[in-house]
Amino acid sequence: MKFLFINGVNLNMTGRREKGVYGSQSLEDINREIAARFKDDECTFFQSNIEGEICTALHNAKADGIILNAGAFTHYSYAIRDAIAAIDIPVVEVHMSNVHAREEFRHKSVLSEVCRGVVIGFGKNSYILAAESFKL
Ligand code: DQA
Repeated sequence: MKFLFINGVNLNMTGRREKGVYGSQSLEDINREIAARFKDDECTFFQSNIEGEICTALHNAKADGIILNAGAFTHYSYAIRDAIAAIDIPVVEVHMSNVHAREEFRHKSVLSEVCRGVVIGFGKNSYILAAESFKL
């Protein structure tokens, strides 16, 4: 299968920011682990801190499934929500932390409604569980 993993704003700081929440592994290390785990599949990784670039990545995606951790954009980006709704590729929303056990503003996702499903709270394994869901 072809997977596109998209990480949004501040996810490039993974391993360096709030290690108690997001762990001490870098996003590059996590992506390497994911690629090794799905070595028989085609994995592409994209990260941007810019909302419009994430929309463009969604528009141009050529994949069987998209795994999206939009970071804080999750909670307010109608632009990313509309980009997900605009494409035919299924998107699974991912969060490493359990957003429901955190601040109230993180309890709301404007993306979930247009996603196939949501995986929350399993650290880097959230990405793996989301990709596995496409194989069920
Ligand atoms: C996050 C949760 C978001 O609330 C936060 O803004 C992030 C990361 C997660 O993976 O747990 O940047 O998406």
